[in-house]
Amino acid sequence: MAKAIVIYETTYGYTETMAKAIVAGLKEAGVEVELKKVMAVNTDELKDFDAVVLGCPTYHHDMIGTMKTFLFKMKNAELKGKIGAVFGSYGWSGESVEMMSDTMKHIFEMDVVEPGLKMKGTEVVTGEKECKEFGKKIAAKIT
Ligand SMILES: Cc1cc2nc3c(=O)[nH]c(=O)nc-3n(C[C@H](O)[C@H](O)[C@H](O)COP(=O)(O)O)c2cc1C
Repeated sequence: MAKAIVIYETTYGYTETMAKAIVAGLKEAGVEVELKKVMAVNTDELKDFDAVVLGCPTYHHDMIGTMKTFLFKMKNAELKGKIGAVFGSYGWSGESVEMMSDTMKHIFEMDVVEPGLKMKGTEVVTGEKECKEFGKKIAAKIT
């Protein structure tokens, strides 16, 4: 069975809500999934997964520091050729999503599902279906 890990950071819970719906979409498509907040992940775990999915909101045109630090740590994991995907909630600019996918592509040489999924807080409230579909799109690449 294909395996994915969804790793996220959040402040007010919007990106977490997205993460849970993406997990549901992946599971509906037959993927075994783990969901973890970024601080709970050891990069050694990543080798066990076919896909690594990162979620982070945008604050001050940037990622939250914990996700930025995690991306530095990910450099030491064997990720080349694995499937990657990114998502995050935002207010008006949403740079974090492109930042994470750029790093996955250019530094880790992962096969990234594009575009990543960006949702304003107001969209997240009614956005379960779209998030689930994104999960299924990721699943289609790994199954
Ligand atoms: C202090 C502060 C700074 C923010 N800076 C940005 C920003 O630079 N660009 C943007 O698109 N959204 C910005 N936002 C909006 C958040 O990204 C948005 O509220 C998002 O839904 C939060 O997601 P979360 O609940 O997962 O943390 C900012 C919000 C706050 C409170």
